[in-house]
Amino acid sequence: MLYRAPRGTLDILPEDQPYWRHIYDRIHHICALYGYRQIETPIFEETSLFVRGVGETTDIVEKEMYSFTDKGGDPITLRPEFTAGTVRAYIEHGMHTLPQPVKLYSIGPAFRYERPQAGRYRQFFQWNVEAIGEQDPAVDLEIMSVAWQLYDDLGFQNLAFQLNSTGCPQCRPNYLQVLVDYYRGHQEHICEDCQRRLERNPLRVLDCKNEVCQPIIAAAPQIMDYLCQECAEHFATLRGYLDELDRPYTINHRLVRGLDYYTKTVFEVWAEGIGAQNAVCGGGRYDGLAEELGGPPTPGIGFASGLERIVLTMKQQEVVVPALPAPRIFVAYLGPEAKTEAVKLAVELWEVGLGATLAFGGRSLKAQMRQAGKLDAAFTLILGEKEIEAGQVAVRDMVRGEQVEVARGEVISWLRQRLSGG
Ligand code: HAM
Repeated sequence: MLYRAPRGTLDILPEDQPYWRHIYDRIHHICALYGYRQIETPIFEETSLFVRGVGETTDIVEKEMYSFTDKGGDPITLRPEFTAGTVRAYIEHGMHTLPQPVKLYSIGPAFRYERPQAGRYRQFFQWNVEAIGEQDPAVDLEIMSVAWQLYDDLGFQNLAFQLNSTGCPQCRPNYLQVLVDYYRGHQEHICEDCQRRLERNPLRVLDCKNEVCQPIIAAAPQIMDYLCQECAEHFATLRGYLDELDRPYTINHRLVRGLDYYTKTVFEVWAEGIGAQNAVCGGGRYDGLAEELGGPPTPGIGFASGLERIVLTMKQQEVVVPALPAPRIFVAYLGPEAKTEAVKLAVELWEVGLGATLAFGGRSLKAQMRQAGKLDAAFTLILGEKEIEAGQVAVRDMVRGEQVEVARGEVISWLRQRLSGG
């Protein structure tokens, strides 16, 4: 039997790592720039944290969680997202006593039992960013800018924010009633899923992809017309900032997001060309979440971006990434006696901080040279009986194809000078 990676999971192979390393580098740089500090919470949490946080009637909780009872009998779930865990940590560690907002970010895997396709996996990495403890719409702008800056730094083209408001517990129930009444008038024309959504989670009808529902959605009442004064002002202020900054955005009345904690602002960034799953990031405000999880009333806003989708977009848009550092020196030898000297020389190089690859397996010198070429070594050091007797090392410049003898005691400083361009 041949084992394969579980369905919906990816091996991130060495050839893809330059993309990942570059993204990580940019993320840490940008988060430092905006004053976000890293936090890592557990990959699993008590199941009820997600049921209460993400919402009982969401697809995530109903169908997608990797939940199990552990050996001690406790219900556990692999995190399907980071926000619930991050807000749990905020409450647990009394972060409301710190200057607000508390600005946090994390990078790590999340798990959802979804139907795998391009850009949609069962284990995927998220860069998750949260600003907890402040309701000023300028925080919404800051959070959106953090996401934007990464895509801008990476050189992405043709991106735009999708923006909407989901209202608040004051105004949303009224809108939901209007929406349900409207849908009841079209009951016989909507898909079965939407029939069910109307009972369980009516806002989600706006997100339906089924053909038959599209005309009904297009003519549905829009939440913008039902926002309370506070939500309308919040939205207008945020739009004002985005307009001032000339940030491209589209008001998308259908953007409702798949998690129940959202209030007021919700947004996504879409990238074309990475398949049906084109949201490189999604987020929004969750002013009721901390209270829902047993903490003090605390506003918050954040987003998460799927790293696999960022890599897909980078490849699709042909973004060039720096190569990862690799040893530039190859240590070769001729015969068993020289091999011991070669081992000693390689260890010396490593200890002084010069990257080197040591030849293994007693292959012919020709084969060793071929390997050095494949590894793109800049210099190959060759030790044979002759060199050892003369107290020298043969150094082959792999680019110029020239070979010189360097005294064994001087080879490190010689290499240092040449590798630094001297
Ligand atoms: P989300 O929209 O469920 O939001 O996920 C955020 C991003 O994670 C998506 O835009 C996508 O890039 C990536 N993603 C989600 N599911 C998958 C998947 N199955 N495969 C690959 N990538 C995926 C959240 O998770 C919220 N917690 C975001 C947030 C933070 N809201 C406030 N704070």
